[in-house]
Amino acid sequence: MKTFPENFLWGSATASYQVEGGIENNDWAQAARDGKVPLCGKACDHYAQYETDFDIVQKLGHNTHKISLEWSRIEPNEGEFDEKEIDHYKRVIDALHRRNIKPIVNLWHFTIPQWFSKKGGFENKDAAIFFTRYTTYVIERLGEKANTWITINEPIVFSSNGYHRGNWPPFKKNIFTFFKVVSNLVDSHNSAYAAMKKIHPTLTIGIAKNNIYFHANKNPINIALALFCNWFWNRRFLNGIQAHQDFIGLNYYFHKKFGDKGTYEKTDMGWDICADGLYHLLIELRRYNKPIIIVENGIADAEDSKRKAFIKNHIQAVHRAIQQGIDARGYLYWSLLDNYEWASGFEKRFGLVEVNYNTLKRTIRPSALEYKKICDQNSL
Ligand code: FCB
Repeated sequence: MKTFPENFLWGSATASYQVEGGIENNDWAQAARDGKVPLCGKACDHYAQYETDFDIVQKLGHNTHKISLEWSRIEPNEGEFDEKEIDHYKRVIDALHRRNIKPIVNLWHFTIPQWFSKKGGFENKDAAIFFTRYTTYVIERLGEKANTWITINEPIVFSSNGYHRGNWPPFKKNIFTFFKVVSNLVDSHNSAYAAMKKIHPTLTIGIAKNNIYFHANKNPINIALALFCNWFWNRRFLNGIQAHQDFIGLNYYFHKKFGDKGTYEKTDMGWDICADGLYHLLIELRRYNKPIIIVENGIADAEDSKRKAFIKNHIQAVHRAIQQGIDARGYLYWSLLDNYEWASGFEKRFGLVEVNYNTLKRTIRPSALEYKKICDQNSL
């Protein structure tokens, strides 16, 4: 029996644009209208059905849940805030508390209001000022509702897809712009962190960092490449915010091996499954000396034939790291529901719960019940 520390957080996650539905005032919705990415439309209608969805969360034995707030709802026009949307998110967070589920609230998950997008988004030299104004507004109103906050989801994935690879809004392919955006995101986080702490010093604040397990065969060049990528992708951003984070939120999906690539089972996204990578990444994060919460880890698996083993193997990797003294405090599966998987649209199925997009019916997948056993027992 592998038992986890007392009060270990077990849960799942979603993000506003991917599940809520009815969001038309951000850069992704505009890109969809321009025919550049799939339409999102009503998505899972989670905006209206969050109570039902949280009943499922409760039924699945989760004690925590990560949501994100939609900036374009809260600040639909520059400097104009919508109190009604704050009230909505208040109700959402309260709905979690009523079920004894600890909320982890993410302030920004990839999508930006159209007004900000027109100003260049995170390319704008004043991005940190805009972002801090938004976060300040939210924390003044919702800060007391949750203790654990994430400012930014996956800054390097966002910058890389939007400004280097050019497959997400704003579809740019310019390495210099990429560096500028990353640096503005570091400033945005640091400035928002300071403002949030000023309002509520007791908040626990971090980012969600997508780290990749870079490894290599014995070839020294490959070893050097893996070390460089590890620094570039995994550590640079975390180093930039080191003095401004209370915990590290880790998102784990990818490994990359240099030399002797090996064969790995694949997810429906075509991504290799490498649970071992999660162990190594956790060990590597020891240098920051901060508590860690795995705030996303999951698999697209429409058949639900690999998810059970995927979850178990990744949780086992977390347990191994804890045994090595790593202060891991939680594991959140991505995602509670099937949802809008960005440029891949609705086809890929990450959910513990299947969503029928015609009827919006939710069906709990068998793997979710296996995960429930782990959550209930705090062990596997
Ligand atoms: C992560 C994103 C999340 C989801 C998963 C599959 O990179 O944070 O929104 O798309 O990948």
